[in-house]
Amino acid sequence: MIQIAIMGLGTVGTGVAKVVAENARQIEHKLGEPLQVKAILVRHFKDGPYRQLMTDDFRKIEEDDDIRVVVETIGGVGAAYEYTKRALMAGKHVVTANKQLVAEHGCELLALAKKKNVNYLFEASVGGGIPILHPLTQCMAANRIDEVYGILNGTTNYILTRMVRTGAFFTDALREAQAKGYAEADPTADVEGIDAGRKICILADLAFGHQVEPDKVPMEGITKLSLRDVKIAQRAGYRIKLLGRAVRLPGGGRTAYVAPHLIPEENPIANVEDVFNAVMVKGNATGEVMFYGKGAGELPTASACVADVMECLQASPKREEIGWSDNTDGFEDPLELHTRYYFRIEGSLTDAAMAFGQVEVLSEDGETAFLTDRISGQDAVQQAKFLNVLASMRVLS
Ligand code: HSE
Repeated sequence: MIQIAIMGLGTVGTGVAKVVAENARQIEHKLGEPLQVKAILVRHFKDGPYRQLMTDDFRKIEEDDDIRVVVETIGGVGAAYEYTKRALMAGKHVVTANKQLVAEHGCELLALAKKKNVNYLFEASVGGGIPILHPLTQCMAANRIDEVYGILNGTTNYILTRMVRTGAFFTDALREAQAKGYAEADPTADVEGIDAGRKICILADLAFGHQVEPDKVPMEGITKLSLRDVKIAQRAGYRIKLLGRAVRLPGGGRTAYVAPHLIPEENPIANVEDVFNAVMVKGNATGEVMFYGKGAGELPTASACVADVMECLQASPKREEIGWSDNTDGFEDPLELHTRYYFRIEGSLTDAAMAFGQVEVLSEDGETAFLTDRISGQDAVQQAKFLNVLASMRVLS
């Protein structure tokens, strides 16, 4: 019998307990022994199927030598950070879905895990049930990764889909996403792009091998997005999606950011809807590789956590290759990127042309919506100062 503990019994923690119970036979077959949840750390006891396993004392897990893997689903960096360090120090593997903790302290926690000869695994922290971190670091290991971009937040993609398809109001669509267990405890992190920002930091850390500090990454969500722009974009053959992007720059630097983008409808990412996420990885040998699946929710996220638990128990003695340097040099402002821009201005085509030269007009209906040629972010910001800008976005090309 192999025993594990879960810390936190929210959406993901409950999902982990369910997957361990419901898929017990498959898991036992693969591990050669049954897997059992021995303890669940909670702040408040509550009735239900796991009542007998609950404890509010972390030391019961820390000091129990029978518990080999701890699944951290507390979230945030307070207690989760403290208990993760203590569990690793106690020689236990730790598995998590906690993107904030990995984005902010992953490098340090990986170093601690290495020192203690255990694993710190976090496949569930990006893309929910989509296998992305293992393929990025293992299957694509022979590549130089030049870019990673994708729809990294299920809640905002769900909200956008509901608003565009059925005309739902933002607040109603958000409430639905919360009821389905997609949103963060504080959904501001979803709708303001912060959750996607943490995920793009983790992807960039692994893709480029250097720590990307979340507070250096510009993050913009969907709260300022207007349905007017969605409709103009659709008529012109584009979809608007919230993307996280990490790019290797020509001079050797790197950048990352989160913002809504216009995406040409022929790009498969343009048609990723509801809670689904998709991550595109550009390797110099593979070209573009796309990963697609449910990016949030109880069971998809738990699936990734339990797979990491199984990997800890099978790996002998541990996986060496996951990790990155704490050197943050070479991170540059995303305004360095050159791309086409979408603008909607209060003004005429002449105003647009005076600022940007030749532009492609998408709509002239009192306001003017247009696409620029490829320009740098600095030029876009500079020229926009001469216009009354109602909306602006990058175009993914
Ligand atoms: N709130 C997150 C999302 C959960 O909506 O994508 C999965 O990380």
